[in-house]
This record gives sequence, C-alpha cells and structure tokens, in this order.
Amino acid sequence: MSNFESALTELVIKDKRIKVPIIQGGMGVGVSLHPLARAVAKEGGLGIVSSACLDRLVSKRTGKKYSSYEAAYEEVSLAKAGSGFAGINIMGALVRDYNDSVKGAIDAGADAIISGAGLPLSLPAVQTPKDTALIPIVSSARALELICRKWEKLKYRPDAVVLEGPLAGGHLGFKIDQIEDETNKLENLLPLVKDIAMKYGDFPVIVAGGIYTHDDIVRFLRLGADGVQMGTRFLATEESSASGEYKQAVVGAKDEDIVVAHDPGSPCGMPFRVIKQSPMYVSALKHSRPPKCDKGYVLLKDKEGKFSICLAKESNEHHFCICNGLLSSAGYNRDKEESLYTVGTNASRIDRIVSVKALMDELTGKVPAATA
Ligand SMILES: Cc1cc2nc3c(=O)[nH]c(=O)nc-3n(C[C@H](O)[C@H](O)[C@H](O)COP(=O)(O)O)c2cc1C
Repeated sequence: MSNFESALTELVIKDKRIKVPIIQGGMGVGVSLHPLARAVAKEGGLGIVSSACLDRLVSKRTGKKYSSYEAAYEEVSLAKAGSGFAGINIMGALVRDYNDSVKGAIDAGADAIISGAGLPLSLPAVQTPKDTALIPIVSSARALELICRKWEKLKYRPDAVVLEGPLAGGHLGFKIDQIEDETNKLENLLPLVKDIAMKYGDFPVIVAGGIYTHDDIVRFLRLGADGVQMGTRFLATEESSASGEYKQAVVGAKDEDIVVAHDPGSPCGMPFRVIKQSPMYVSALKHSRPPKCDKGYVLLKDKEGKFSICLAKESNEHHFCICNGLLSSAGYNRDKEESLYTVGTNASRIDRIVSVKALMDELTGKVPAATA
C-alpha cells in the first residue's frame, strides 16, 4: 500500500462518501457509457453515464430492442457492477425520454442523477429517488434558487448542485453574448451559488467547466467548492466510447479550432462548443446538409404546448441535427452521418490519450502530469 495522501478531501453526497472529489461529467451522445463510468468509480471518483440516445446505443450493442427505461437500467447496472459510485446524466432537453430514463436509473440504484440542459424543476416528482442523489446543473445562482423553491414544494432539497461555467463542453447555459462576461467566470459565480446552497440547507457545490489540472482542483476547493466535475479530460481516455477519429480530433485541436456554435447551432437553442473542423459543422456552415433529423430526442413546444418540434427537422439553415452528428461521433451510423465533435475550451491542451487510472493518478496529485 502506498503512503500517498491526496490534498483532495472526500465529497459526501446523500451519505455517500466519494473518496476522490471528482465527478466525471456525463457526456452524450455515447461518450460516457459504462466502461468509462465504471473505471472512474474504481479510482474513487463518481462515474457518470449519459442517458442521451441510450436506447439506440444499447439496442445496437446487444442486438436486442431496449426502451429508454431498460437502457438506463442496463447502463447504470453495468456502471455499478464494479466498485465505487456511479450515476447517470439526464438532460432536460431530451423531453420524450426524460421520465423513463429517471425511473430506469432509480430502479437500477444509481448513486446520482445529474440533470441540466434546462431546469430540472420536476425531477423529484418523477419517482421517489430512494438512495439516488438528485443533482441539478445550473449556470447561475438565480437558476438554483428557482429550482430550490420549486423542489421545496415537492418536499425535496437538492442533494448537491453542479455549477457549470462558460468554458465547459457540450451545451452552455449562457446566451452567446454572455459567455465572455467577467461576471460569468466560474470563480465569480461560485460564491453566489454557495450562498443559495447555504440558504436552502448547505448542500455540496460542485464546479465544472475548464478545470484541467490537480492544481485547478485544489484552487477551487480552496475557493469553497466541495468537488469538481470534469468532462473534456475524460473524453480523451482509453475507456471513453468516443470514436477513434473523435479522440484524434481532440488530440489535434488547437486553441483557434474550438468555437461556440450558435447559428447554425443546436436545435435546443443553447450555444454548443465544437471543434470547427467537425464534418457536420463544416456542412452546416455551408448549408450543404439536408434537413434530416429523424430522431426527435430534442424537442421544443408547439403552439398547443406539446413537445413536438425539432428545429433541425424543419430547416438546415440555422440548426444542425445534433443527435445524428453525436451518434456518428460515438461510432453509430458512421457510414451515413457526418460527425460532430463537442469539447470544452481546454481540449487544445490534450496531446495524448491516457487510461482513466493514469488520469486519476495525475488529478489526485499522486503522480506529476506527463509532458511530451
Ligand atoms: C463530449 C462532451 C459531451 C458532453 N455531454 C453532456 C451531456 O450530455 N449532458 C450534460 O449535462 N453535460 C454534458 N457535457 C458537459 C460535461 O458533463 C462537463 O460538465 C463539462 O464538460 C465540464 O467542462 P470541461 O469539459 O472543461 O471539464 C459534455 C461535455 C463534453 C466534453
């Protein structure tokens, strides 16, 4: 046994003592599946699978038809089959499958459901969560307060909150012209979100977006965070289920290659960070892609208030089909669909693919960061 003592303190959420205060962020579509989540759990962090398009991914993998409920149940069960803690990320924008994914995850004993891309106002009402921690993702103190007020009426208090700043990968919880604002820097948002967490019962605050090194983690813990959530660094691991091309695009990405797609952008309307050479983004900029969303996971309300509209189905001018692009990046339908690579700003610092163990050893300070 080594005598190593990490400078990082454990993260306690709903009585779960997570030895390493690092949450591997959910990465859809199909990037964080059970192999990644299980590997992170084994190293003492909280591993998170993504529920996005999981019915298709698990059905393809097993050759058997899975519903969203069954797919969430299966993937969480597999992630939890090793040691440590594992949960699931369920995005609010995936309206059609939301409740079934929540139920499948709770029934499978997920340690946590982490939910953003829209305010998860009704999450506690979907099903009694039992031992599953319910954790909203917010990008402002105001959003957290709204959630706490609504959840109070449902007699539930968040078990923790993830505060995601503007440097993250995936969808961003900011308007396009607010991304660069000084006030929206993670370190500036943190004290305000901590105040709300304190007011509603002093639950843990986890920060996300642009955290890269062991020193970054230590710095945010000193600033008052209870843990960190990291995506991009786990994207570039052996255990992530991103395609080989996707991982190589991350390794090759330079600072100037990482842009925020907005118009054309994601059909859910939120800014979305991508590598600008992603084949689907290149086609979208040229409007050379036919409007052919045939998936319908990301839905907006129609005039009657029903969730029936996917903007990428109607036109190729302002939106691209994020589901098809991301499915292709996870190796699904690659022969028919162009890939779309989402990353956080720090992807340009990544120069190699490593194992989760090597990454966790570096992040906990056990070994120094490797240099080229
Ligand atoms: C490839 C990729 C996919 C992502 N997909 C999701 C997702 O499906 N749902 C979600 O809430 N966040 C998603 N995120 C955000 C991450 O969970 C995480 O909070 C964020 O990337 C943290 O910033 P970092 O990448 O700088 O570490 C994604 C991020 C990446 C890089």
